[in-house]
Amino acid sequence: MRTAIYPGSFDPVTCGHLDIIRRASKLFDKLIVLVSVNPLKTTCFTAEERVNMIRRVTKDLPNIEVDSDNGLLIDYFNKKNADVIIKGLRAMSDFEYEFQMALVNKDLCHKAETVFLCADAVGTFLSSSMVKQIALFGGDITSYVPHGIVEDIVKGVRRLTDKETLKS
Ligand code: PNS
Repeated sequence: MRTAIYPGSFDPVTCGHLDIIRRASKLFDKLIVLVSVNPLKTTCFTAEERVNMIRRVTKDLPNIEVDSDNGLLIDYFNKKNADVIIKGLRAMSDFEYEFQMALVNKDLCHKAETVFLCADAVGTFLSSSMVKQIALFGGDITSYVPHGIVEDIVKGVRRLTDKETLKS
């Protein structure tokens, strides 16, 4: 049984993330989508909200588990006896940071292989941050996030008074 972990902030999950989730779920027996909780990073949505949105938009996929964690990815990886870390790559600008994280994770645990999936066309220019900005200023996000969570995102973004959280 091959288990992969797809970690991220998912603040919120976008169509780009969902494309990676769908494709990765076909490559592995089990895919754990892991909402990473970083106390140094301000998010718009709580971990519970982020997990809940991902669960709703992946409910048709049988081999998906959605979880959250506030520790090192590699500790979670070992706890779950996982085989692979999945990352989505958009532009070259993602590469240096992702390459660094893959090397650090491999150094911390030799078994931890990172597999990069290239984003699809829409996912290439999409980010959670863009989605939040569009929603905050009343733009249409329906092509960028899964249908069932559009209202959650609009409501969540509007409760913001501190625009600092749009940076994440
Ligand atoms: O969606 P993001 O914010 O680009 O995801 C980054 C994430 C959550 C994958 C990364 O920050 C992470 O793995 N955090 C967990 C803590 C950790 O293990 N940090 C060291 C990784 S080198």
